[in-house]
Amino acid sequence: MTDSLTIRRPDDWHLHFRDGDVMRAVVPYTARQFARAIVMPNLTPPITTTAMAAAYRERILAAVPQGVTFTPLMTCYLTDTTDADDLARGAAEGVFTAAKLYPANATTNSAAGVTDVRRIYPVLERMEAEDIVLCIHGEVTDHDVDVFDREAEFIERHLKDIVANFPRLRVVFEHITTADAVAFVTGCGPNVAATITPQHLHINRNAMLVGGIQPHNYCLPVAKREAHRVALRAAAISGSPKFFLGTDSAPHFRHDKESACGCAGIFGAPHAIESYLKVFEEENALGRFEGFASLHGPAFYRLPVNEETITLERAAIEVPEELALAGAQIVPFHAGQTLGWRIAA
Ligand code: DOR
Ligand code: ZN
Repeated sequence: MTDSLTIRRPDDWHLHFRDGDVMRAVVPYTARQFARAIVMPNLTPPITTTAMAAAYRERILAAVPQGVTFTPLMTCYLTDTTDADDLARGAAEGVFTAAKLYPANATTNSAAGVTDVRRIYPVLERMEAEDIVLCIHGEVTDHDVDVFDREAEFIERHLKDIVANFPRLRVVFEHITTADAVAFVTGCGPNVAATITPQHLHINRNAMLVGGIQPHNYCLPVAKREAHRVALRAAAISGSPKFFLGTDSAPHFRHDKESACGCAGIFGAPHAIESYLKVFEEENALGRFEGFASLHGPAFYRLPVNEETITLERAAIEVPEELALAGAQIVPFHAGQTLGWRIAA
């Protein structure tokens, strides 16, 4: 039995830090594990310009603990009125690593998102020309579509058209939750990839709905039925460079999740790497872990791999029931469970 695993330091290719006190409280969890993270722009107000992203990046850097190296990679929140010139300038200056498409009202803080994907086709054309990565929250918002079908329907109604119309655009289908998404991404060229969260590898929709509503297992896209979780696991451990780590860690206070209208989002940052490693161990795929966690993402984003390494060692880690952060409580993913690995000092 392997008792320790050394890999290049991983990166988180999909993450929510928020801002202010919450951001300052959660940044250290990510910086402890990851060298870089793609930071989502769905703040209030959203990060829609180069100037806003540059200022947000400074606030994040100020929250990185002394002695820790961590680089936030910024994203531009696309709207119906995105200024393509500003986006291109921000990318050229190294402020933006990607732009994020939220269909309007698909998820947390997405009200200012895109109301009709075709409206931003001129921006996508420019992104393709400038080689700026497009990150997509792939769910339709049409009221006639069942919430469990919204990802698969997004592929049919929008994603196929985006990929066909912009064949050289690099696209990340974020936090995929279905076998349909795995099949679609697998069938595309190397310019289309996907991130997979720890929660969608660990839980299916029963974890949210059986034995009473479990709000801390609610995120968007929602976890689907077991066959989809199995397909996601197969994709993650496949060794395909199209699939890589993106936690979608999204802190919400306990009182906001345990409410009559609970927020979507799972706070996976505290033990993200240990959580993923548990999956790879269960699948007898420890040899593929470094690719998923540390190599496929940089290759897709055309960034250097990290030169530092981390060592994971077998040890029982008790995940707390809750964490006191920014003056309230946040329940982490795996709360109250024991995980079998930790990052060696
Ligand atoms: O569960 C989610 N939470 N999904 C998202 O797409 C957004 C995120 C958040 O910002 O809370
Ligand atoms: Zn997200």
